[in-house]
Amino acid sequence: MHDIIHQLDAKRERAALGGGQKRIDSQHGKGKLTARERIEMLLDEGTFEEWDMFKEHRCVDFDMADNHVPGDGVVTGYGTINGRMVFIFSQDFTVFGGALSEAHAEKICKIMDKAMQVGAPVIGLNDSGGARIQEGVAALGGYAEVFQRNVMASGVIPQISMIMGPCAGGAVYSPAMTDFIFMVKDSSYMFVTGPEVVKTVTHEEVTAEELGGAVTHTSKSGVADLSFENDVDALLMLRRFFNYLPLNNREKPPIRQTDDPADRLDYSLDTLVPDNTSKSYDIKELILKMVDDTDFFEIQPDHAKNIIIGFARMEGQTVGIVANQPMVLAGCLDIKSSIKAARFVRFCDAFSIPIITLVDVPGFMPGTAQEYGGIIKHGAKLLYAYAECTVPKITLITRKAYGGAYDVMASKHLRGDVNFAWPSAEIAVMGPKGAVEIIFREEKNDPIKVAKREAEYKAKFANPFVAGARGFIDDVIMPHETRKRICRSLAMLKNKKIENPWRKHGNIPL
Ligand code: HXC
Repeated sequence: MHDIIHQLDAKRERAALGGGQKRIDSQHGKGKLTARERIEMLLDEGTFEEWDMFKEHRCVDFDMADNHVPGDGVVTGYGTINGRMVFIFSQDFTVFGGALSEAHAEKICKIMDKAMQVGAPVIGLNDSGGARIQEGVAALGGYAEVFQRNVMASGVIPQISMIMGPCAGGAVYSPAMTDFIFMVKDSSYMFVTGPEVVKTVTHEEVTAEELGGAVTHTSKSGVADLSFENDVDALLMLRRFFNYLPLNNREKPPIRQTDDPADRLDYSLDTLVPDNTSKSYDIKELILKMVDDTDFFEIQPDHAKNIIIGFARMEGQTVGIVANQPMVLAGCLDIKSSIKAARFVRFCDAFSIPIITLVDVPGFMPGTAQEYGGIIKHGAKLLYAYAECTVPKITLITRKAYGGAYDVMASKHLRGDVNFAWPSAEIAVMGPKGAVEIIFREEKNDPIKVAKREAEYKAKFANPFVAGARGFIDDVIMPHETRKRICRSLAMLKNKKIENPWRKHGNIPL
């Protein structure tokens, strides 16, 4: 017995060493933690239960028969974050560059299957050279097995990808199918084809960082949701982020106790919207003053900044916030912002997170770039997402709600549960100037008449009362009481239940 225990200890030690001290030092030299250090930092202390520590690849080609490392380049298992269950895989770059073999994929699939059975999220810490080249199609098959599970788990358990090293080729498609992608600045990158191939095919010279680094994907492409300075920062923020989410689609997110009173009034909000309607203001100010403890976890802050999305809490309950940002492109909806918000709305809906929508939108962005880029189809994504979603939906129009964008932004007609407006709201087909130019075209050369018509239009439509008279707005509220009124609405909607008709699945305009 003593020998066997000794053997076990030796095997564990061997596995824990991964690709060896030299490669661990090299990993540290790049400012990166090892796969195991990352798990230790992410999970509650001492909670990690590791599986398949002794699993090895079965490849015999290219001298691989004698080249085994227990664990085969990925550390898998489960543990807790702030006491709540999570499954995890952490690719070990020190072992074959974290490359994915058939056995490596089997380990990931095993924890994904169990996570689905017990209803717990999966977090992937990605740091890998991609498909294990020596294995060929066996590795490709392994990827596809993971992809299939990503899709089956979508909307059932939250899936989060943290990219902490290379992630290239088809390997990017597993993170792409998870709910959130986070990246670490300077040490991670994602692309379908690397700089060398790009150079050969398109003759473009581009570095890995420019092509697929954290800045690129959090600002230009929108592929990644957030980036962090380093591994430690990333893992600590991931712990914070995890607290907003439910464990699965049958549970509600955890409640966090707060001392912030639900009926707190904030009189500074009464002057947030400028008197001049073409002047901008920062909608983030309203978000921060409305939510518990000014605590807002913004997602994609550097991409499509004309719309803001993120998580916060109201009376301790997680809410998703979608807000037009008048400071950027006047808060217009365009292709990128529609896609950004649509995906977020669908996540919230899948995981029982009520949505608060703050509206100040002059309409959809005009122009050939938008039309050629398919704004019709992409704008429809947001419309579809709001219309389909059944979680509590609370909408507040702070100023403009013009045209189709009025309809899209969680209007009453799309089953908005509670639709509020501030007195400064203007709900109309378009702004006074554009409206007068069209319906009184013959008077356009007479500035006095135009001014009169504009004033007339403004008096009639640039207010929330026409919509209020039809019941499209449930109440016009004072800005200072926004938090109180929304908290009450959320409390009222706590047990809301509506169901969409049975269907195999809808056909969202992709
Ligand atoms: C096997 C790999 C590997 C791979 C890296 N290694 N990638 N082994 N299969 N895909 C090994 C290296 O041989 C090396 O082993 C160790 O990992 C570290 O790699 P280095 O090159 O020394 O590290 P670095 O300089 O940091 O470069 C990292 C890298 C580079 C940029 C990821 O290794 C690289 O370009 N690898 C190949 C990437 C690739 O083309 N993958 C296939 C993508 S296509 P030693 O023993 O020397 O330490 C794909 C298809 C998926 O993934 C399809 C899904 C549908």
